[in-house]
Amino acid sequence: MADTLRAAATAARDRAYCPYSGFAVGAALEADDGRIFTGCNVENASFGLTLCAERNALVTAVAAGARSFRRLVVVAGSDPPVAPCGACRQVLVEFGVTLEIEGVGPTGSRHWRLADLLPDAFGPELRGQHE
Ligand code: THU
Repeated sequence: MADTLRAAATAARDRAYCPYSGFAVGAALEADDGRIFTGCNVENASFGLTLCAERNALVTAVAAGARSFRRLVVVAGSDPPVAPCGACRQVLVEFGVTLEIEGVGPTGSRHWRLADLLPDAFGPELRGQHE
């Protein structure tokens, strides 16, 4: 299954729109029900409105009705592999801190749990709105 997620993230990366940075990123998110949702980074001439691959995968999943996730794979061309940026970590935390994350680059991979990337996160349970 990890290979399937990697393949999905790699295919999404091929569709990245990144004319400003030249840094293509692809993400694949596996829901608890087995569905896989993908995203790529989509840059903007304003720079600040650039959308990351991870958040694009997440919002695609939520729009399709998925809210519980097992794994996220992020593929980019960097060594060491990238982990989700701070903004993406916060957005991902909304749907659970147990998410397993794999960053994949040309020379290897790294693994994290979301809770370790964003300790003491401000999440929905702090507002009493956890589903
Ligand atoms: N980017 C992502 O999509 N995800 C990451 O984890 C790191 C950064 C994008 C944003 C921007 O389009 C480009 O990579 C360079 O920062």
